[in-house]
Amino acid sequence: MYYGKLVCLRPLEISDLDEVMRYQNDWNLRRWAGVPLPKSRPSVEQWLEKVVVLDPIRDGTMVLAIIDKKTGVFLGITRFYDLKVPHYRASLGIGIQNPDNRSKGYGTDATLVMLWIAFNVLGLHSVYLDTMEHNKQAIHVAEKSGFKRVGMFRETEFIDGEFKGLVYLDILSREFFEKYPPGIPIGNP
Ligand SMILES: CC(C)(COP(=O)(O)OP(=O)(O)OC[C@H]1O[C@@H](n2cnc3c(N)ncnc32)[C@H](O)[C@@H]1OP(=O)(O)O)[C@@H](O)C(=O)NCCC(=O)NCCS
Repeated sequence: MYYGKLVCLRPLEISDLDEVMRYQNDWNLRRWAGVPLPKSRPSVEQWLEKVVVLDPIRDGTMVLAIIDKKTGVFLGITRFYDLKVPHYRASLGIGIQNPDNRSKGYGTDATLVMLWIAFNVLGLHSVYLDTMEHNKQAIHVAEKSGFKRVGMFRETEFIDGEFKGLVYLDILSREFFEKYPPGIPIGNP
């Protein structure tokens, strides 16, 4: 279990299915994360059964639940994928499900905890993320957490009837450690 100032990141469990399902078909969340096609409960259940047993090193994916430290409320999911040990890099994804829980600091805190795990536990060298060019909030949160913009794939995402660019940002372990020295946790239980 890993702690930030506001959140706790813990393994995602099969018993989280109801929470994961709650916003699975919510346009406000899904339009920022992948192709927003409807997902049935059995398909989400199947996905959950698969991801809860993945090993980050062997399978290249680690999925964690974001929990409000104070209230225990399930806030969303964050994950590493494309985690490749020979390169010591991974890609970060994050979603705060309920729009009412956004802009309250949870996303930044969870991002910092994920970077802490990447550089203090997994021994990664770099973490990158991609997001659509018009996802200004996600870009702001990434930059605020120390990511640097490194480029953009042009017109590569089809959303809202248009092709949008995909912005790439990354952070190296030494850049993170300048602000968050090794071994010092972001937050406490
Ligand atoms: C992106 C996301 C994870 C951020 O988490 P969050 O908890 O809402 O973000 P925080 O509260 O930590 O930070 C919000 C910051 O964004 C800023 N912000 C809000 N709307 C913004 C906008 N339209 N443009 C730029 N910045 C914006 C806020 O002012 C705040 O910045 P500050 O702390 O410097 O004042 C969350 O909004 C989310 O899940 N969005 C939908 C899914 C998604 O886009 N995922 C990311 C794909 S990579």
